[in-house]
Amino acid sequence: MDITISNDAKDVDVLVISMFEGEKTSQELANEFAIGQDGFKGEKGKTYLMQTYGKIPAKKILIAGCGKREDFTENTAREVAYKAVKKLQQIYAKTAVFDFDFDYSKSVVIGAMIADYAFDKYKSEKSTRVNTIYLKNAQDLTEGKIFAKALKFTRDLANEPASYATPTKLAEIAQSLDGIETKVYDKSEISDMGAFLAVGQGSSQPPKFIHMKYTCENPKKRIALIGKGICFDSGGLDLKPPASMLTMRDDMSGAACVLGVMSALKELMPQVEVHGIIAACENMPGSNAYKPGDILKAKNGKTIEVDNTDAEGRLTLADALCYACELGVDEVIDIATLTGACVVALGTQVSGIMGNDDELIQNLINTAEKSGERFWKLPMFKEYFDSLKSDIADMKNTGSRQGGASIAGIFLKEFVKDVKWAHIDIAGTAFLEKPQGEFIKGASGAGVRTLLNHILAV
Ligand code: BES
Ligand code: MN
Ligand code: ZN
Repeated sequence: MDITISNDAKDVDVLVISMFEGEKTSQELANEFAIGQDGFKGEKGKTYLMQTYGKIPAKKILIAGCGKREDFTENTAREVAYKAVKKLQQIYAKTAVFDFDFDYSKSVVIGAMIADYAFDKYKSEKSTRVNTIYLKNAQDLTEGKIFAKALKFTRDLANEPASYATPTKLAEIAQSLDGIETKVYDKSEISDMGAFLAVGQGSSQPPKFIHMKYTCENPKKRIALIGKGICFDSGGLDLKPPASMLTMRDDMSGAACVLGVMSALKELMPQVEVHGIIAACENMPGSNAYKPGDILKAKNGKTIEVDNTDAEGRLTLADALCYACELGVDEVIDIATLTGACVVALGTQVSGIMGNDDELIQNLINTAEKSGERFWKLPMFKEYFDSLKSDIADMKNTGSRQGGASIAGIFLKEFVKDVKWAHIDIAGTAFLEKPQGEFIKGASGAGVRTLLNHILAV
């Protein structure tokens, strides 16, 4: 789908107009039929479709309900746009003009492009798509389009089968990003990362430790983003049951998010130095697999007794966090499909967030809200560490099932030193098992919009 600014496109399949509750629309015809005859009220999220019978150049009019004007936000703009696109798809419309009585073109572009997304590269029959949207009265679509492109990049990558999106593939993608310097470490160069390497050793796919960097002159801030990059999580020797394993190609959604964010930086040109870090590997039960009872040594020297090989994400993140803390950045944010417990606690619409700095956490929660995402703070009281105590090592990698998301958080904290840190658990939000709002089934690109806006807010 292409979105362009145009004030004179008229000859289209559908003219999409906005309507606030208690107000009229910009089209007499629409007012006469929708409001006068049928009593359409313009409630938020509702739409009204009508034929125009040649009275205006567009074949149909779609009225997008916007709710009360005083309640209108960028999230309403996004909702209006994605509902309109979904409706256009349903009626096989190919061209449309969006003539809206508000100017949130960034949200409109992002909403429309999310709704237009399909992962149909492996299907012989492609999805029904809208070809062109002409946006009236808009100033600049650049930023919205960059965000939408980053989201698509992340969603495509997370939707790919694990046999495509291998650690080596992620490394190649990182190396191909425009305007990004990338260093990829092979196994032999990171022998101090005993926790990460243990997770990867049961797979025939070699692990890759990826460090991307975006720089600019006189950065105002230095940020490190870490994405969990488990390209496939079978559970390892503590093998997952089939139903739980089915979607575990999504276990690199954090990595896909970080790659998507990095892919957009050259064009967005923020005054920030951004490091993107991914410890990429597969968690497989091969003959060399790490075993329950093994003791691993992370990069900071702390030892970990393997209690469950399926709690692998935190092991890879442990070494990545140590690495990031050595960069001397101002803040570290990790994003990970980390715990089923977070899905139980918050569901599929809300990501969990915790960390060691309330201001950073609150900032990210606020930015998420404005970005069309939802983050919710989970506690990280020190007592959560009690169940991680080990008789033979500094800690175990799993403890009680109760409070599992917070326990994973307190585990990660052991590897964070002298830096502001936030941990985002996207286990529930990154990969949807059924359509949700503007998203089709599959990868949602969780975190991309929030992290990009967080970087731009500096
Ligand atoms: N990748 C999973 C977490 C996950 C679960 C992501 C559901 C997306 C959807 C993670 O590696 C895992 O297996 N966690 C275990 C931890 C347990 C062994 C302490 C879990 O949540 O069951
Ligand atoms: Mn696991
Ligand atoms: Zn995992």
